[in-house]
Amino acid sequence: MDGNGRWAKAQRKLRIQGHREGAKNIRTLTTFASDLGIEILTLYAFSKENWSRPKAEVDLLMKLLKLYAIRERGLFMKNNVQMKVIGDLSQIPAFARKELDRTIELTSKNTGMILQLALNYGSRDEMVRATKKIAAEVAAGRLKPEEIDENRFADFLDTAHQPDPDLLIRTSGELRISNYLLWQCAYAEFYFTEKFWPEFTEKELMKAIEAYQKRERRFGGISSRKTMA
Ligand code: FPP
Repeated sequence: MDGNGRWAKAQRKLRIQGHREGAKNIRTLTTFASDLGIEILTLYAFSKENWSRPKAEVDLLMKLLKLYAIRERGLFMKNNVQMKVIGDLSQIPAFARKELDRTIELTSKNTGMILQLALNYGSRDEMVRATKKIAAEVAAGRLKPEEIDENRFADFLDTAHQPDPDLLIRTSGELRISNYLLWQCAYAEFYFTEKFWPEFTEKELMKAIEAYQKRERRFGGISSRKTMA
């Protein structure tokens, strides 16, 4: 969800107003994505690297997170949305974690779309944490090294038992993956847009989905058209 700051600057507003507008847009797009029948929507809300921002901005983002967890509960229940988080939550301040945990618990039985926030998330960190968990299982004799394959490894990631993402969207014109779902996006289709996150509307999401629908996914194989020819 990149570009809140630049959106705010272009509107002669404060950066935090950009983040507030960004949070509002999460609400709009969650409802829209859920109505479209998307199964899992994962949003990169705060990276491991984002702690290096000015303290005032980090503090405000954590407060926004707390308010978000409280305010969206009703909507999640109304839309049958299940909220989850990925990332290392141990560093998220307790006041925000408490409300996140409440919303996660409250929505845990919902059967509709999973809205997953990546918080204090970094893909390399996720893989190192997974590796430590695997090493502990091996050391305890519950897992044999020869039993570890790609599927087993994925079971130790934060996204355990979820399908890989089909489409990764990055807003604001940046052409990087920035340590996001590196394992999971091995075969994802990428879509980059110049739009800043607060202006990434329902119409823009539809454009991304339509572009995705025109892609031919081969997963390392050959074109199905070629196979038939
Ligand atoms: C990156 O854009 C965005 C973030 C680091 C934070 C994303 C946060 C939100 C969308 C709102 C708060 C989230 C929740 C879940 C309440 P940027 O700020 O770096 O923008 P810039 O690159 O233009 O400066």
